[in-house]
Amino acid sequence: MNSSLQYSKKASKTVRYEEILPQIKSLVEFETDMIANMANICAVLKEVFDFFWVGFYLVKGEELVLGPFQGPLACTHIAKGKGVCGTAWVQAKTLIVPDVNAFEGHIACSSLSRSEIVVPVFGKNKIIAVLDVDSDQLDDFDETDAQYLGKIVECIFK
Ligand code: SME
Repeated sequence: MNSSLQYSKKASKTVRYEEILPQIKSLVEFETDMIANMANICAVLKEVFDFFWVGFYLVKGEELVLGPFQGPLACTHIAKGKGVCGTAWVQAKTLIVPDVNAFEGHIACSSLSRSEIVVPVFGKNKIIAVLDVDSDQLDDFDETDAQYLGKIVECIFK
């Protein structure tokens, strides 16, 4: 495996997402371990976008439990329906939060986090995890992130 990522450091985020999507697909293609694939996806997203925090929370019973991530220490358990992550899980949809302080029930793992996007990861018929990305800038995520992060998490379940 060629472990170095190829991407244009100064290009727009759309270009960078377009560049890394096929690389992520080939990275996970022959690896069946979901945790290993989640870990590498976090590493790619951290390197290419330098997100403040990027990681997965795994559905375990009635709660989310911290999975592979890159960034500062994070909360380990999130109850169903709680926080942005638990809400995205229950609503089964991607949530973009431009200002975390304006989201009722937001769980602040770090006071530096200002905006956030949470993307559900679908298994066969249910959500098996969520991808959570945090920024230390306000309003840092938009539909482009939602669209491409959605495509990226589609690579996880097979
Ligand atoms: N802010 C999230 C909790 C996870 S951390 O941001 C890593 C939430 O409200 O669900």
